[in-house]
Amino acid sequence: MNKLCLLGVVVGLALQTAYADSPSQGPQNKDAFVADLLARMTLDEKIGQLRLIAIGGEMTHQRIEAEIAAGRIGGTFNSVTRADNRPMQDAAQRSRLKIPMFFAYDVIHGHRTQFPISLGLAASWDMDAIALSARTSTAEAAADGIDMTFGPMVDISRDPRWGRISEGFGEDTHLVSKIARVMVENIQGPSPANPDRMMASAKHFALYGAIEGGRDYNTVDMSPQRMFQDYLPPYRATVDAGAGGMMVALNSINGVPATSNTWLMQDVLRKQWGFKGVTISDHGAIHELIKHGVASDDREGAKLAIKAGIDMSMNDQAYGEHLPGLLKSGQISQADIDNAVREVLGAKYDMGLFANPYLRIGKAQDDPADVNAESRLHRAEARDVARRTLVLLKNQKQTLPLKKDARIALIGPLADAPDDMLGSWSAAGVATQSVTLLNGLRNAVADPAKVTYAKGANLTDDRATLDFIAHFNPEHVKQAIDPRSGQALIDEALAAARDADVIVAAVGEWRGMTHESASRVALDLPRTQQALITALRATGKPLVMVLMNGRPLTIGEQQRQADAVLETWYSGTEGGNAIADVLFGDYNPSGKLPVTFPRSVGQVPLYYSHLSIGRPFTPGHPGNYSSQYFDSEQGPLYPFGYGLSYTDFSLSDVSLSSKRLSRDGKVTASINVRNVGKVAGETVVQLYLRDVAASMARPVKELKHFRKVMLKPGESQTLTFDIVEGDLKFYNQQLVRAAEAGQFTVMIGLDSQDVKEATFELL
Ligand code: NOJ
Repeated sequence: MNKLCLLGVVVGLALQTAYADSPSQGPQNKDAFVADLLARMTLDEKIGQLRLIAIGGEMTHQRIEAEIAAGRIGGTFNSVTRADNRPMQDAAQRSRLKIPMFFAYDVIHGHRTQFPISLGLAASWDMDAIALSARTSTAEAAADGIDMTFGPMVDISRDPRWGRISEGFGEDTHLVSKIARVMVENIQGPSPANPDRMMASAKHFALYGAIEGGRDYNTVDMSPQRMFQDYLPPYRATVDAGAGGMMVALNSINGVPATSNTWLMQDVLRKQWGFKGVTISDHGAIHELIKHGVASDDREGAKLAIKAGIDMSMNDQAYGEHLPGLLKSGQISQADIDNAVREVLGAKYDMGLFANPYLRIGKAQDDPADVNAESRLHRAEARDVARRTLVLLKNQKQTLPLKKDARIALIGPLADAPDDMLGSWSAAGVATQSVTLLNGLRNAVADPAKVTYAKGANLTDDRATLDFIAHFNPEHVKQAIDPRSGQALIDEALAAARDADVIVAAVGEWRGMTHESASRVALDLPRTQQALITALRATGKPLVMVLMNGRPLTIGEQQRQADAVLETWYSGTEGGNAIADVLFGDYNPSGKLPVTFPRSVGQVPLYYSHLSIGRPFTPGHPGNYSSQYFDSEQGPLYPFGYGLSYTDFSLSDVSLSSKRLSRDGKVTASINVRNVGKVAGETVVQLYLRDVAASMARPVKELKHFRKVMLKPGESQTLTFDIVEGDLKFYNQQLVRAAEAGQFTVMIGLDSQDVKEATFELL
């Protein structure tokens, strides 16, 4: 008997003991299996399944295991090794019904190996790269005994003040929806029951990225049209891709918190979209219904949440303490509880845990001796993906690529910052394993001594920022802040740069500045770094600015000062090597911005797909009564979809297969793209549409198709895009999604601003 058969027999025997009277397991028997189990559960056991508890804090392992064995916990999160999870699963196997636990974690852009932050992944516009990152992170997390990730995070955001913009995929509905689907497909694979896959619990349903003023946890007030047209499709894409879970947002929507929002959770998610998975509240959200002012106490909060359709409560006591009383008093029904429990059991079934509770935990003798062993990392994959996410924003006088024998002065507070390379939500990533830019440059050149380094500036001297970061990570601030004066640091940098041929300045934000609860009123580089760039500019040497940040920054002045600018986000474990690949031209940059970069924070929200208005900005004298700011240049610093290459591409005019589109037909738009430069390179050809006159104002343009193409020097390719009625539909005043007859403009370009146009008519 081979190993696999033996395992099957062992698992089978174990199951027979645990579920002797249950219908046999198999996908076709899920409903019967769950119904049978539900019928055998006590009320306490049912309520136990609805509790999702955070590891850490007061919940010691001992306490948690006792609670699990008593059937009072359904799942936990934040434990990240098989050795940690095994005793908890053992405890579940000691409980009366032996219902397995599941273990969840925020695996957002990596697990042990960190890939670039999600905003960076989106900048690749490369679905293969994104798929690779999701598959690899999932395999690593599953190998550590994790069954569910709290991801993907698919909140559209058009507000860079919001720290969590780093965690999502940008501003655009089409791009984010496409990525949402790819993420779920590659996290769950053919089945979330596969041992190297997990269940995806998409988040944060819904509209979290549209909170007022970018202030975390704030309210959302939005028209139904905008919701359905722009913000809801990515969540819908995760449902269509089969996501097994959905985490509910902390914000309210038009006055009703998502956590108590029956319309959102039942009518939209379950009835309209057919979601069949488990819903999970965000951390403490049921208790927060009191602060939202919709519940007078936890009891009422629990009632509102369970009635709305929140299946599991994350780390709050409201369900455990109040559901029994609510049921007894008739304020909730048995069906309210059973419906929620059914979804939790169903999710566990889908994760393969009834078939084998140790599916991802395995046997103790197979546990890795060192969970952080180098051999467990996927460096090649991380580097490959990371370099595809970097966006070249400026490159004058061919400053880039750098020559490998050049004398390089690497300056800046983020040049050698291993922690920050990992970015926000870096799961089980270990800072000492990340490659900083300093390491990356030195790895790439024959003579590392030719790369000199100086910090040049503290990341910031702003007291509020220092206090904020120190609150979460005092050690980080202690280590990162050099006690010398700003001038002393700059002098040292200038000395390091004296003999250099070129200066590379690594500047931006600490990763903690673009995280949960990390909103900013300013999007500037901190003034210490502004002063550094000014001083480096004054040397007259070629200056390359390498940005590390999790949100669009208002870097107008610094981008004028620099000769070249490379946006690198937080590029992960292999970030330094990936950035070096691009700086030296071993990889030709191909990333495009997934989010608009404003000139100043006062322009926010600034996004390319805004509605048409009666008095659009028309260049001219300040008082010309068009939509403009009188005290600034108009428009973005860098538009959505923008990004340069070391080669140049030219686009032909757009040609259409027909000037008329019938309802069941298609119009094919063609464009020829040619590499007119000297090196091979990739670019993203983007197709936007505009409904010229409709029953409602429509966006000036909306991304509908794109393709990333690689071309050798001199090579050209004709790309074709089929436009069908579905591409033209929108939610009208009656909230019916329909396409209206009339004229449409097709725009194709290499960014959202510089486009070629053609028109056709929908019949
Ligand atoms: C709160 C965050 O909002 C959510 O995204 C995360 O999944 C949970 N905490 C668990 O860490």
